[in-house]
Amino acid sequence: MSRSNALEFHLGDIDGQHERLFELQRSARLSLQNETDPARIRTELGGLRMYAKLHFDVEESFFSESGYPDAEVHRREHQVFLGQMDALIEDCGGDGQTVCARFDAAGVWLQRHILEQDMQYVEFLRLTGDHRDRLQAFGSHEEGVTKASARTP
Ligand SMILES: [Fe+2]
Ligand SMILES: [Fe+2]
Repeated sequence: MSRSNALEFHLGDIDGQHERLFELQRSARLSLQNETDPARIRTELGGLRMYAKLHFDVEESFFSESGYPDAEVHRREHQVFLGQMDALIEDCGGDGQTVCARFDAAGVWLQRHILEQDMQYVEFLRLTGDHRDRLQAFGSHEEGVTKASARTP
C-alpha cells in the first residue's frame, strides 16, 4: 500500500488506530510468550511495527497541515518506538525473558507516548484555529486509551 493510499484509508480515525495498536501489541505479546518459532514471532512484531509506522505517518501528516510547533520532538519519539521494534525483531530468537521484558517496556512507553505526546498535540488543536476534523479523528481519545490499556496483559 502506498503512503498516500494508506493515508486515505486511515485518515480520520486516530482513536481507532490507537485501539488497533493496542490489539496488535497484545497479540504480539502472546506470540512472544507462547511461540517457539522465531519466524512467527517476527511476523507478529513486524505487523505491529508496520501498523505503528502507518499510524505515525498519519499523525505526522496532521502536524504538517496544522503547523504544529513541537512536531520534531514528537516525530523523534515515533522513531524511538520504531527503532525498539526493529531491535526486537532482530533479537527475538534470543533469550525469551529478556525479549519479553523489552517488549513490555516498549508497550509501556507507547501508552505514555499516546497519553502525553499525542494529548499534547490534541491540546494544541483545541487551543488553535479551526481543527474540528482533526480533533474528531482523535475521538474520545483518553477514554479509548484507558479502555485499551486496561486490557493489556
Ligand atoms: Fe498516536
Ligand atoms: Fe504520536
